[in-house]
Amino acid sequence: MLRTMKGPIISLRGITKQYPPDIIALSDIDLSIEKGEFVFLTGPSGSGKSTLLKLLSCMERPTSGELSLDDFDLTNLSASQVPYVRRKVGVIFQDFKLITTKTVFENVALSLEVIGLSSEQISKRVRDILELMGLASKTDRYPPQLSGGEQQRVAIARAVVNRPSIILADEPTGNLDRGMTNEVMALVEELNAEGATVIFATHDESLFAHTYRRVLTIHEGRLRA
Ligand SMILES: Nc1ncnc2c1ncn2[C@@H]1O[C@H](COP(=O)(O)OP(=O)(O)OP(=O)(O)O)[C@@H](O)[C@H]1O
Ligand SMILES: [Mg+2]
Repeated sequence: MLRTMKGPIISLRGITKQYPPDIIALSDIDLSIEKGEFVFLTGPSGSGKSTLLKLLSCMERPTSGELSLDDFDLTNLSASQVPYVRRKVGVIFQDFKLITTKTVFENVALSLEVIGLSSEQISKRVRDILELMGLASKTDRYPPQLSGGEQQRVAIARAVVNRPSIILADEPTGNLDRGMTNEVMALVEELNAEGATVIFATHDESLFAHTYRRVLTIHEGRLRA
């Protein structure tokens, strides 16, 4: 369903998520995120960070409450609209899944094939992002031939290659060393500077210890001020 009201790009009102049979992963969450904002999301293991990002990427549905993203009312979204939401959202997940039978190039190109670019345009964009992620020499390899950190960078390249207006990052630097972590942060910062709204979930306090940005802390499914 399309929303018509103007407002924050992401809005949650009284959102609760219960997994069967009785696990309350999120409880009565109210949250607004403005277009172009970059917010960190932190909290202990099991507190609900990934669940919150899964609701925003339509991988899970809320049990109750209201949820909107850009012009979409995710509370009443029809299945046919899910691809349109996904096109706006670049998701970098903790448990990223690369297709093991496709090359690095093909894994990243998949995100662009659905939006109708020419093969020349796709090739240029994929090569540019792989270059940026330090993966140019791995273009024709298969995921099992890469290290964990390299695979994670391919997943990041795949998530951002179509320049999504919203980036949901779930512990994207978990497998990376400090140098690569800093490069990923710089890349996300750059996409944010170009206008993307970012939610960045992480345990790594050093990433937000000195930030001027909003840091959301979640505990047992509840947001803390
Ligand atoms: N598919 C599922 N089915 C049942 N319970 C789930 C499911 N996914 C998550 N949970 C539970 O919901 C709660 C929140 O999990 P979630 O993955 O959102 O936490 P998290 O903050 O991302 O943790 P981590 O930092 O370890 O990634 C946990 O108690 C978890 O066990
Ligand atoms: Mg998680």
